Amino acid sequence: MLGNFTYHNPTKLYFGDGALGHLKEELKKYGKNVLLVYGGGSIKKNSLYDEIVDILKESGKVWAEVSGVMPNPTLEKLYEGIETARKNKTEFILAVGGGSVCDFSKAVSVSVNCKEDPWDKYFLRFEEPECDIIPVGCVLTMAGTGSEMNAGSVISNHKEHLKIGHVFGEEVMPKFSILNPVYTMTLPEYQMKAGIYDIMNHICEQYFSGDDDNTSDYISEGLMRGLVNSSRIAVKDPQNYEARSNIMWTATWALNTLVAMGKSTDWMVHMLGQAVGAYTDATHGMTLAAVSLPYYRYIMPYGVKKFARFATEVWKISPEGKTEEQLAKEGIEALESWMKEIGLVMNITDLGATTDMIEGIADATIILEGGYKILNRDEVVKILKDSL
Ligand code: NZQ
Ligand code: ZN
Repeated sequence: MLGNFTYHNPTKLYFGDGALGHLKEELKKYGKNVLLVYGGGSIKKNSLYDEIVDILKESGKVWAEVSGVMPNPTLEKLYEGIETARKNKTEFILAVGGGSVCDFSKAVSVSVNCKEDPWDKYFLRFEEPECDIIPVGCVLTMAGTGSEMNAGSVISNHKEHLKIGHVFGEEVMPKFSILNPVYTMTLPEYQMKAGIYDIMNHICEQYFSGDDDNTSDYISEGLMRGLVNSSRIAVKDPQNYEARSNIMWTATWALNTLVAMGKSTDWMVHMLGQAVGAYTDATHGMTLAAVSLPYYRYIMPYGVKKFARFATEVWKISPEGKTEEQLAKEGIEALESWMKEIGLVMNITDLGATTDMIEGIADATIILEGGYKILNRDEVVKILKDSL
């Protein structure tokens, strides 16, 4: 049963290879002082930076820049971004990059006018902003996180060995996002694959909860089938626009709150993956891939019905003559063979995690309650050890 919910997603999306043409009309709606945020330089190599700067000039904007936003953006970088925004009286933040740049920009947007320390307030105490929030717009260059149409922001605090995400309210969602699949074609293969698994896992995190008949699950199954199909094409032929555009659109729908409606949602793979990331600074999607199978194999007996449905509806495994347990097992095996086929990292050792880190990673793992089994700390340790 779906229960009561309110659904509203205020982010306006412009999709396709002409999408950047809409930036000018969007910029008109916001103040003159823009903060242009980007990463380590990919947008300079593929000339997107020049195109954006031309549009800013034509729009009569004055802009400051925060460059070098790293994958898994850090707290130190956030402080730098806040300072630059304050100094330049930023009225609008334009994020050009992947999830890290979008997440970082949202964190700056809620912190510039905040009198408290943003780490303590937003990432430790999970409080909502009470200050004026600076509007953010995104030009997305990497498909995966869904940050372009959600209110999530994940910040890493290396000193504390913590990587924590806060899902803010809808006022923090980007005002608009520009999605041109062509931009994603310069992504290194490793990042493309990590993004594909991030998408898959976002859907799984919402799908593997509850045992009711729920519209969200049917939508999720369709998204997963489409993603598997497009991923197989993109891995062989990364320049295939059809596949890359489907992947980009699926990423958005995988985490823009729609398929969470009526679901308790799990998110434990993300909690484990983020804790691994806090210790290794590894690529987000790969941290998820590396812990997923030990986690799903561990919780499968508690949600066997849904795992059996995953087998028949996503992987089209015939149920004939099989028990639910057999089907559930085959569903996870199908997931595993697809993960290996597209070339994901399958253990945390390959990401730099070592046995002596396990206790610390377990301490950094936030335990959530929405999935089929509420883990205790010993179970977290077991899953992490099985992921080595
Ligand atoms: O920094 P540049 O030079 O741009 O290079 C980036 C970076 O090295 C590169 N890249 C991006 N677009 C490119 C490109 N290289 C060539 N051509 C392009 N078109 O790719 C690398 C990774 O970029 P990043 O933004 O870090 O990747 P992603 O989009 O996966 O974002 C990861 C961050 O998002 C968080 C993760 O935890 C991580 O910190 N997440 C955010 C979520 C949200 N907002 O809801 C949910 C996710 O579960 C996730 O936790
Ligand atoms: Zn993710």
